[in-house]
Order: sequence, then structure tokens, then C-alpha cells
Amino acid sequence: MNRTKKILVTGGAGYIGSVLIGKLLGKAFQVRTIDNLMFSDAALKQYMDNPNFEFIKGDIRNKDDVGKAVADVDTVVHLAAIVGDPACKKFPELATSTNKDGAEHLCLQAIDAGVSRFIFASTCSNYGKMLDPEGFVDETAELNPISLYAELKVGFEQYLVSKSNDSFCPVVLRFATAYGLSPRPRFDLTVNEFTKELFYKRKLEIFGEQFWRPYCHTGDLAQACLLMTEADRSLISAQAFNVGNSNENYRKKMLIDEILKQLPGSESSVSFVTKDEDPRDYRVNFDKIKKLGYHTSMDVPRGINEIIQALSSGTIKNPDDKMLVNI
Ligand SMILES: NC(=O)c1ccc[n+]([C@@H]2O[C@H](COP(=O)([O-])OP(=O)(O)OC[C@H]3O[C@@H](n4cnc5c(N)ncnc54)[C@H](O)[C@@H]3O)[C@@H](O)[C@H]2O)c1
Repeated sequence: MNRTKKILVTGGAGYIGSVLIGKLLGKAFQVRTIDNLMFSDAALKQYMDNPNFEFIKGDIRNKDDVGKAVADVDTVVHLAAIVGDPACKKFPELATSTNKDGAEHLCLQAIDAGVSRFIFASTCSNYGKMLDPEGFVDETAELNPISLYAELKVGFEQYLVSKSNDSFCPVVLRFATAYGLSPRPRFDLTVNEFTKELFYKRKLEIFGEQFWRPYCHTGDLAQACLLMTEADRSLISAQAFNVGNSNENYRKKMLIDEILKQLPGSESSVSFVTKDEDPRDYRVNFDKIKKLGYHTSMDVPRGINEIIQALSSGTIKNPDDKMLVNI
């Protein structure tokens, strides 16, 4: 008889992890998460009574906690991290001990425990600045990390892939910048933050309006993790995949235009600050993951609408809560 697969999600109380857990439980996987609850356990409460869900309050830097977390697990989806350039810049030692040392020990302990698949949440910001400002970057492009956050992501990508063997299948997912709802919504990410500020008609200063970034909904990022837990290992092992949709690259000015279409009357709240240099400017191609049958179900305009609806209906009780930003 086939045993139900057990998946360990690290960082399950976070923005993307708490969406992923819902999807995995919906597919009747056994799900365990380890999280040290930097932003509270609010996002996990809805899962606590599910018999297929197990929560370990622990730290991925602690070997005993990790030992418990990886026991009897088939697949690890590694999301726990100090997330984003500002947080890593402010707490460089914590970022290094978590995103590098902790991740490496997690990987080694997972291998020792017989985990067969390890899916790592990396980032498209590893691409830094595109060489051709008119072009797109794909997985073959040179990585050009220009922040500690991206440097640590690139370093662990390389470490993880080097551990690949017949019984261990590592996969790197380079996520586009997330937007949209989650049990732990984040309001320090561009689409959500701009929408919230303009919803409340607050002053918004936009720096570097002309630079490109790709965006992807939380549900679609979680879906990519789900796809990788089920994909044929020969198609994914030791490979990197960008996660998003080639049609969902936007300049910041384009995001503001979309938001203003849905929140007319807020134009005077926005000012643009000229900035000719931004070390990050990347427009990303997502054809590789599409060939595995992956497609996104949301787009930025609908994501903006989702946030506006949540703010108008009061679904998010306190959108200015400090727990909903990473810095
Ligand atoms: N959100 C994005 O736009 C985005 C884009 C690209 C990549 N990613 C990657 O996706 C992953 C998830 O991002 P997110 O937006 O959900 O972040 P998040 O900050 O909301 O979630 C991270 C979770 O990890 C937990 N955590 C942090 N340090 C830990 C530790 N030492 N031990 C145990 N748990 C710990 C936190 O408590 C938190 O619940 C991260 O690895 C991030 O780098 C996110």
C-alpha cells in the first residue's frame, strides 16, 4: 500500500508558507511545518485541528529541532528565511546564520534522514540588473546578486544543487515578487503596499518608476511548490526554475497606473522621485516552468482588486499591524 507522502514546509507561518500548507492539506498530504514564529502563529491557527497537520515550534538553526522536523519526511519545501533586502541588510548575522548556515545544516540533516526531494524558495532578484534593458532573463542568464539577501540565496542554490545524487533530488525555484492575500498578508511588498497606501489616500513616493520586476500571486507560487512535489524527478532534479508568468513583468509606474484605474481619485497622492540608477532591474522569462504544465491563475490587476476588496470588507483587521511587514 502506498503511504501518504509527508511534506515538511519550513517557514509555514509566513506569507507563502501558510498558503502552501492549505494547498497541501487540500491534496491530503501529511504536512509538518517548523517555524520559530517571528511574526506570530496567527497564520497557522486554522490548520491546528487538522489531523494531517503537525506544527513544530522550532528554529532551523537548531539541530535538535531540525532532527525532529525531517524525521520520516519525503519532501522538504524550504521557505524559512530572513526575507528581503532590507531585513538582511538590517540583521546581516541573523540572515547569514539562517539563510546560509541553517539552510546548509537543514539540507545535510534532510539527506541523512533519507529525504528524497528538497525544494528551495530562491528569488528572481538573483538576476540583479539585466545586461540588455530591452530583453528578458531566463534561467541560463548570469546571476548578479547585489544584496546580501540575493548573495545568500545564490550561495545556497549552488550548495543545494551540489548535493544532488540518485536518491536526493534538489530543486531551485526562483520566485517572482509575491502579491495577494495569505493567512499572513505582507504589506511591505510593492503591489500590496502601494494598493494599501492608495486605498487610504496616503502620500506615496515612488523611486525608480521605470525599473522592471516580475510579480506572482501567493497562490500561484504555492502551486509551483506543489507541482514540484509531484513532478517526475528526471525533469527537475538539480535544476532552477523561474516561477511566475512572462506577461506579468511590470515597471513600478505600470503598477501605479493599474492601481489608479481601480482607485480613481488617488492620483494626487502619488509622486515620482527620479532615480536613474537601480542595481535591480530584471524582466524575467518563465517558459521553462510552463513546459512542465505550470500556469498561473492570477494577474496583478486581479491581485490589486483582491487587496482592495479585503481592505474594504475589513477582512484584514489591522493592515498596519507591524506583524504584516518584514522590517
Ligand atoms: N515574498 C516574496 O515576494 C518572495 C519572493 C522571492 C522569494 N521568496 C522566498 O520565499 C520564502 C518565503 O517568503 P515569505 O514572503 O513567505 O516570507 P515570510 O517572512 O512571510 O516567511 C518566512 C517564515 O520563516 C520563519 N523563519 C524565519 N527564520 C526562521 C528560523 N530560523 N527557523 C524557523 N523559521 C524561521 C518566519 O517566522 C516566517 O514565518 C523565503 O525563503 C523567501 O526568500 C519570497
